[in-house]
Amino acid sequence: MNKHQYHSIIIDFEPISRRLSLKSVDDTLYEMLMKLDIKIRAECGGVGSCGKCRILIQEGTHFFNKPTPAEKLLLEKNQLNQGWRLACQAKIDKNQREKILQKSSPQLKIFLPEATLVEDFKILTSGAGKDIPLNPLVKKIFLEVESPTLEKPLADFERVMEGISLTNQQLRIPLEIEYDLLKQLPDLLRKNESKITLTIWDDHQIIDIEPNIHEEENFGIAFDIGTTTIVGYLINLNNKKIYAVHSKLNPQTAFGEDLITRITYIKNHPEGLEKLRTLVIEALNGIVQNVCQNANVHPSHIYEAVVVGNSAMHHIFLGMTPVNIGLSPYTPIIQKGLNLKAKDVGLNIARHANLYILPLVAGFVGADTMGVILSSEIYNESKLSLAIDIGTNGEIILGNKDHLVTGSCAAGSALEGAHMKYGMRAAAGSIDSVKIDPNTLHTTLTTIKHKKPIGICGSGLIDAVAEMLRANILFRNGNFNKELLNHNRFLIHDNEKEFIVAFREETSLDEPITISLSDIRQVQMAKAAFYSGTRILLDNLQTTYHKQFKIEQVFLAGAFGNYIDKENARFIGMIPDISSDKIFQIGNAAGVGAQFCLLNNTYRQKASELLKDIHYVEIAVKQKFQREYAEAMYFPHMNLNLFPNLTRYQTIPTR
Ligand code: FES
Repeated sequence: MNKHQYHSIIIDFEPISRRLSLKSVDDTLYEMLMKLDIKIRAECGGVGSCGKCRILIQEGTHFFNKPTPAEKLLLEKNQLNQGWRLACQAKIDKNQREKILQKSSPQLKIFLPEATLVEDFKILTSGAGKDIPLNPLVKKIFLEVESPTLEKPLADFERVMEGISLTNQQLRIPLEIEYDLLKQLPDLLRKNESKITLTIWDDHQIIDIEPNIHEEENFGIAFDIGTTTIVGYLINLNNKKIYAVHSKLNPQTAFGEDLITRITYIKNHPEGLEKLRTLVIEALNGIVQNVCQNANVHPSHIYEAVVVGNSAMHHIFLGMTPVNIGLSPYTPIIQKGLNLKAKDVGLNIARHANLYILPLVAGFVGADTMGVILSSEIYNESKLSLAIDIGTNGEIILGNKDHLVTGSCAAGSALEGAHMKYGMRAAAGSIDSVKIDPNTLHTTLTTIKHKKPIGICGSGLIDAVAEMLRANILFRNGNFNKELLNHNRFLIHDNEKEFIVAFREETSLDEPITISLSDIRQVQMAKAAFYSGTRILLDNLQTTYHKQFKIEQVFLAGAFGNYIDKENARFIGMIPDISSDKIFQIGNAAGVGAQFCLLNNTYRQKASELLKDIHYVEIAVKQKFQREYAEAMYFPHMNLNLFPNLTRYQTIPTR
């Protein structure tokens, strides 16, 4: 065998980050997915007649069989050329097996579009929900306008201004009015006994006029555009009530799991930016449709949208090239918060609705981080606080009412299951918590929706690693305890030792679920990125202000941050050694920041003020970073003095 040859064919299924090591090449992709318990649409039961099981082969198209007659019938020629196939028809060409094995893994990549996936994924939609005062920019005012007389033949618009100024002193009279609304005004007044409802934006612009009373129908929508998921919250601007929430996987995932891949795609394809922009706008409009249907609200009653997203998502959403964000010195096109017409970017809400996008903090620290800063109100804290947003990208904010520093680290995707043998995002059947008996090494698991396990999600992984340390299965340097390698909980696969979390008969797969040393490296890299990033920010504060600082509380934000066992996150050294009651899980804080801006304009002003005060630190280029990172690769850290409360480590060997 060629020394570069790999032993198995590895397929990555995206965007669910499920990796499959193939035993046989006889199955169709549909059969493989069924065996993994990943449900896709297959109304015809896999006979090739319904066309619902569409998937996109992103890597390795030429290793598959030629399109079958059923595919030629159900898919367009250009779709087939792009790599679209029917999962029930596509299978690996046996003659290509040896060639595939020559390639480095994962040799094949398959994208499962949302329309094909049946499985519901656990996407965090909740938020911190702090009670904030209501002060939206959109107000609806019912008015009975005086009719004109010969004695007082005041023009229609001026009569409206006169009427409204009597009871609404804060308005900037005379208001501005959209041209098309002005043209409708005479009819609206004369057909409805001069009873109208005005919608006014920012106390000076009339953006809608309706006949009769419609004050109740005053809605806004807050969007959090994440690299992997998009969430939309439909909120009534009169009473702060969230009427509906809907989330979707970001369809751009088909063009790259992470931001750099998407930016590279845009750089290399002239039509790339427009393609990705259209995808995100379609997804947002899909969310609008969904929340409106659920809440029985007409989209024309949504008068404002507020958007947060990382810098690349922000740029792509606005149709602006994100290419320079990906190149040193990582400069965005614009940083400040923006007000635009929602229709100009293609959002299907009220005709004259406003769109507000939160400001970017810096190159790779985007409007989503500003959302976290606003909703955590870290800038009001007297205690030095650490906020980390754990998503596909990791952002770190450190500060209080006097100082704020922030930076980003590439950390999240390992914890979302990417690049790990049995890693997957939090979905039904993923192991989300693990306990190990230190005497017998017996494991007790829980899975999402109590299904038989099919993989491990980030929270399960952190639990497993923490428990493996407590049971002395792992040493502090991340290697297995050699004395246990003959235990029946260990197996050898492709020359790699793996710890069995669930035996074959306990899983839905025809194989055990294991954690290998390379999986543990992924966890070490992710946790080291957060911890060393935090140390660099702390160091920055200390050097700038020539004094010692101590982190007193931690906010864990983001989908992942909300589900992890915070005790275990601390135990493995991902977050500093502070007591659990000072670690707060604050939910989808970026999305909540967008909600705050929708409900209270003061938060928008705060965001632009903060821009001047937040100091951005380019973590990875700092001289100390490499050393800090290497030391943080140990559990919980090379220097145990940094974790004095984790006394259990005194009995865990370093290597
Ligand atoms: S399952 Fe119906 S066409 Fe594939």
